[in-house]
Amino acid sequence: MNYSLRFFLSCFITIIITNSIYSQTSSDGWVAPKTADNLINPIAGLQPQLATTQLFKSNCSPCHGDKGKGDGPVGASLTPRPYNLTKSKVDNETDGALFWRITNGHQSMPTFRNTLSEMERWQIVLYIRSLQQQEENEAKTKHKK
Ligand code: HEC
Repeated sequence: MNYSLRFFLSCFITIIITNSIYSQTSSDGWVAPKTADNLINPIAGLQPQLATTQLFKSNCSPCHGDKGKGDGPVGASLTPRPYNLTKSKVDNETDGALFWRITNGHQSMPTFRNTLSEMERWQIVLYIRSLQQQEENEAKTKHKK
């Protein structure tokens, strides 16, 4: 075997190994890079605009459900299943990490880089926060009964 062929093969094998490691980590967790946490939400703390409800319904509800609980009709047939966006995992993420996820997508979660403007994606981040708030309030009232 000549040298360049051996070099080529070893590169090839390295790529296969790296790929398999990567697909293993991505199947048990989809982690946003640390840099995503530094993205500043230009509308942080505001209420989402009314139009965002419609934006969420047409773009996200088919998989994540109207209330973001991961129970949309299309989502039922996907593996992994779409996440419940009101769960603590999303709660603990920064706005920037959520924005990054919506922008980039992963596996069957589509990328919205070209379908939604930056401002629409930030509006949806606010909307997810409001769904989380609703869920928390409901849980509190149930607790009191
Ligand atoms: C075609 C179905 C589909 C659509 C449409 C969709 N998602 Fe997803 N979403 C998924 C799936 C599946 C995952 C899990 C992906 C994975 O782990 O690889 C996911 C994951 C996520 C996560 C990560 C949650 C976590 O716990 O880390 C967020 C946030 C999210 N979606 C938000 C949205 C928003 C906002 C929209 C609309 C703009 C949307 N998704 C549209 C299927 C979808």
